[in-house]
Amino acid sequence: MTIYDKIGGQPVIKTATTVFYDRVTGDDALAQWFAGRDLSRLRAHQRAFLAAALDGPQLFTGLDLGEAHTGMAITDDAYTRVVGHLIVTLDDLGVEEELLTEVERRLEVLRPQVVGA
Ligand code: HEM
Repeated sequence: MTIYDKIGGQPVIKTATTVFYDRVTGDDALAQWFAGRDLSRLRAHQRAFLAAALDGPQLFTGLDLGEAHTGMAITDDAYTRVVGHLIVTLDDLGVEEELLTEVERRLEVLRPQVVGA
């Protein structure tokens, strides 16, 4: 069973994406990366982020995460904030502690590719 299924599958993920999206776009500290971006691209970004968090980096075969973020000067703090928004979102939806730790672990593996890309 994937972490996606363990978390509750599509219904939970759908709600999580919306709530997570609102949190990220509402965070002033992240505005320099997300403000003024095309809405559909942002949605796609949130889905990509969730997929990486829940189903593992194998979903990104062929895609270089570093290249996708080149020149954006994404900071450690920004990365931590985005991860934090997802964790709080999933926690609010009742996802158990053990799974939250697993989600964090998966995202930490990708941090070096995105921060300072
Ligand atoms: C595991 C973490 C992340 C994943 C899997 C991820 C995924 C992606 C992907 C797949 C793209 C390319 C989209 C495209 O060109 O079609 C992208 C672009 C982008 N990423 Fe990320 N990202 C992550 C973390 C972050 C963080 C932490 C930030 C900002 C703090 C960020 C900001 C952006 C922005 C602004 C773009 C350009 C969006 C656009 O095309 O307008 N990403 N990301």
